[in-house]
Amino acid sequence: MNRMNFQAIILAAGQGTRMRSKLPKVLHKVCGQTLIHRSILAVKSAGVGLVTVVVGTGRNLVEAEIARHGFSGVDSAHQVSQLGTGDAAKAALPQVKSKNLIILPGDVPLLSATDISQAIELYNSQGPDLLFISFKPEEVHGFGRVVRNESGEVQSICEEKDCSAEQKKIREVNAGIYICSKTFLVDALESLNTDNAQGEFYLTDIVSYAKATGKKIEAFCAPSPLSLAGANSRKDLSVLEAIRRRQIVEELMDKGVGFEDSNQVYIDEGVVIEPECFIGAGTRLQGETTLAEGVQVEGETLIRNTKIGSGTHVKLGSVFEESEIGKDCSVGPFAHLRPGSKLGNNVKVGNFVETKKTILHDGVKAGHVSYLGDAEIHPEANIGAGTIICNYDGKNKHQTVIGKGAFIGSNSCLVAPVKIGDDAYIGAGSTITKKVPDRALGLGRARQTNKDDWSK
Ligand code: UD1
Ligand code: CA
Repeated sequence: MNRMNFQAIILAAGQGTRMRSKLPKVLHKVCGQTLIHRSILAVKSAGVGLVTVVVGTGRNLVEAEIARHGFSGVDSAHQVSQLGTGDAAKAALPQVKSKNLIILPGDVPLLSATDISQAIELYNSQGPDLLFISFKPEEVHGFGRVVRNESGEVQSICEEKDCSAEQKKIREVNAGIYICSKTFLVDALESLNTDNAQGEFYLTDIVSYAKATGKKIEAFCAPSPLSLAGANSRKDLSVLEAIRRRQIVEELMDKGVGFEDSNQVYIDEGVVIEPECFIGAGTRLQGETTLAEGVQVEGETLIRNTKIGSGTHVKLGSVFEESEIGKDCSVGPFAHLRPGSKLGNNVKVGNFVETKKTILHDGVKAGHVSYLGDAEIHPEANIGAGTIICNYDGKNKHQTVIGKGAFIGSNSCLVAPVKIGDDAYIGAGSTITKKVPDRALGLGRARQTNKDDWSK
């Protein structure tokens, strides 16, 4: 059976009370990705064609997050009041177009495409009316228990709050992932009631419904319990974050990336790092960041949504945001590339240099203590220590252009809009407010006078 004939229903309308947060639970993150984004990615990567996300608490925020990623075949259904997981699944029914369904919670962040694929394969090969995934975690607290009879046949799922002391001892628990046909689900949901400890419509009761109506049930006890754990509290989230963070680093080491201390780096899901890179302790790599082969990153550095070319050396304590750096550059220590900074190849940006919406073409050097904003600096120009581009007049930002091979003397202020010509020179300590032609020397400072024997 083609996976495209499956539709996923992701339950994401709950309040997430145990998070103690104003943010809806599924908008909390693991390794830089929201729980809802991770759930959608997992089902989509497993080849599921259509996805309906059931939203409720913080509906607008959750829908905005889904839309932000521009998935195709993903829509949302509204659960008006949070009456339980069974009611949530019901809310999705009007949007179900496929014959086969996989229903899963939106708060299982380590769930992988492989887990989902395996369950679908099993459903296709065994042909039960209802398949659900169970597992045996170290800590069973909070999970629904899988109740079996003496011959091992599944009877029901019992929520912890409804369990007898004997049932609480059961080690096999419900992962909250079910596969069945639309026809089965419609009938099963019809049978639910709120006759339980929490007064909710439990989706788990579709299992006892299947049993009572003589349907074939398959409980797939997954061998890798780690990926099925739910994130109900901030503590759960931090445990799962640590597991995934470690997996990411290990996958990178297997590919040939080196680490000074692999336990002291924070690398988001989706960051691309090529072989022969070396990452120092205390590095945070976030969002859509790419490091080409052989990039060296010294520690205590934050790099967000930035692309770095091969052989570039990033020195201690730097911060880059939404920027692009070419090959064989040297940046830092303590450099700050703000959004829209673009460095060509062989560029040098030294300590306490801040750039914003500025292009530094090949071979440009800005070694020390500068602010370079809203500027284009052509190849091989040299920016002296303490150069400040005065890009803001209190109301508007203006553009500065520095020509090829220009030399800006130390402690100069370039008042924008202004243009410095190719191979032009600016005398140290100048305040430049007018265009400097190609090859000219621009001076804008008081001439030095010496008073003889003044100290007397
Ligand atoms: C649920 C299962 C439990 C299982 C566990 C696995 C039920 C009754 N219990 O418990 O057997 O072991 O998952 O992780 O299903 N939601 C809605 N609308 C609601 C209530 C919940 O959309 O009215 C969503 C939540 O946003 C969440 C998911 O359903 O993503 C699961 O709800 P949650 O309250 O976390 O259920 P658990 O107590 O973890
Ligand atoms: Ca949960």
